[in-house]
Amino acid sequence: MVERYTKNPFTPTFGSIPFQFAGRERIIDDILNGLDNAPGDPNRSTLFIGARGTGKTVLLARIAEEALSLGWLSVNVSAREGLLEEILVQIKDKAESFLAPEYVSKITSVNIAGFGVSREITEEPKRTWRSTLTSLVKELNDQDIGLLITVDETDPGCDALSDLVDTYQHLVRERRNVALIMAGLPNKILQLMKDEKVSFIRRAFMHRMDAVPADKVEYALRKTIEMSNRSISPSALELAAERTKGFPFMIQLVGYNMWKQNPHNKNISLNDVQQGIELAENDMRRMIFDSTINDLSNRDVQFLLTLANIGEESSTAQVALKWQKDVNYTSKYRRRLIDQGVIGERPFGKFDFDIPMLREYLLERFA
Ligand SMILES: Nc1ncnc2c1ncn2[C@@H]1O[C@H](COP(=O)(O)OP(=O)(O)OP(=O)(O)O)[C@@H](O)[C@H]1O
Ligand SMILES: [Mg+2]
Repeated sequence: MVERYTKNPFTPTFGSIPFQFAGRERIIDDILNGLDNAPGDPNRSTLFIGARGTGKTVLLARIAEEALSLGWLSVNVSAREGLLEEILVQIKDKAESFLAPEYVSKITSVNIAGFGVSREITEEPKRTWRSTLTSLVKELNDQDIGLLITVDETDPGCDALSDLVDTYQHLVRERRNVALIMAGLPNKILQLMKDEKVSFIRRAFMHRMDAVPADKVEYALRKTIEMSNRSISPSALELAAERTKGFPFMIQLVGYNMWKQNPHNKNISLNDVQQGIELAENDMRRMIFDSTINDLSNRDVQFLLTLANIGEESSTAQVALKWQKDVNYTSKYRRRLIDQGVIGERPFGKFDFDIPMLREYLLERFA
């Protein structure tokens, strides 16, 4: 019988924790050290900024998991309606397995008094919610348990977010053991930072989900393959890593597609890698680029092509000159594309693509 090696270990699905994380160690270490440190450590208030598929959701999940071993309970929510209630519900559910029964019953009673009666929420939402959360945090902190709140899909349109940030800020001032990590697309975070209601956010630490360096991609691919009892030659591995461009979703796509070429062979060959890359690039086009481009107008695409051809971070004046349009006209499109999260601002008034590999895709498709 032909042996078939274990199931494909790669995870090209949004939100799926990878078998082996590529890079991101420093971010993880900084935050975990921040949790281990005293209240007031700036790493406890952090923002993750990155385009689709750069690994924000899985990084939040990983940190939440690791935080547990440091004595931190974590609640993980997305910025949408019902966010505040969801935080309380999760604390209650999770504290149950975390705390001794006598404390759980205390928390439960706080919860019922402050939150369980929905009438109170509608009448006096903010105060009730805030006082409930504050007493839960006290209760946890008294047992040496910190509270980490992670907020995914950060959206400035979510009103509850400012209530959360406001309350969090108070808890920080009281030197409670609390932490807040928020993740979002670059344009959403940028908009949020302009909102006076959550100006506290501007002082948070910020981590961009940059491309993962090639050697770290190689390590993660090799480790995933070897831990699943297969092998790959150094040259095949090098090619695979290079073509992911360090983009986390692409690491999984390349891995997945090269693995499935000849799953009965122990070794993943150079040919498997070449075919895998081709499939991965098609998936990337289909899943990310085509839909992004189809949502845009012709002029938007012309703007982007101009930027792609310049080949580096650019200013409005540079694009206007090359595009042969005036600066006002160009800045209108710049704004539209920033709002759509396709490009993002850079220091010194410049901007560049916020979607990894989109530049190469445009140059190829519209060559
Ligand atoms: N550090 C990493 N190493 C290897 N693979 C990763 C890493 N981070 C994320 N991935 C993989 O990349 C894909 C996208 O991850 P994730 O869903 O966290 O992205 P995201 O930034 O939250 O995207 P979106 O903005 O669409 O929600 C998943 O398939 C995940 O397994
Ligand atoms: Mg996500």
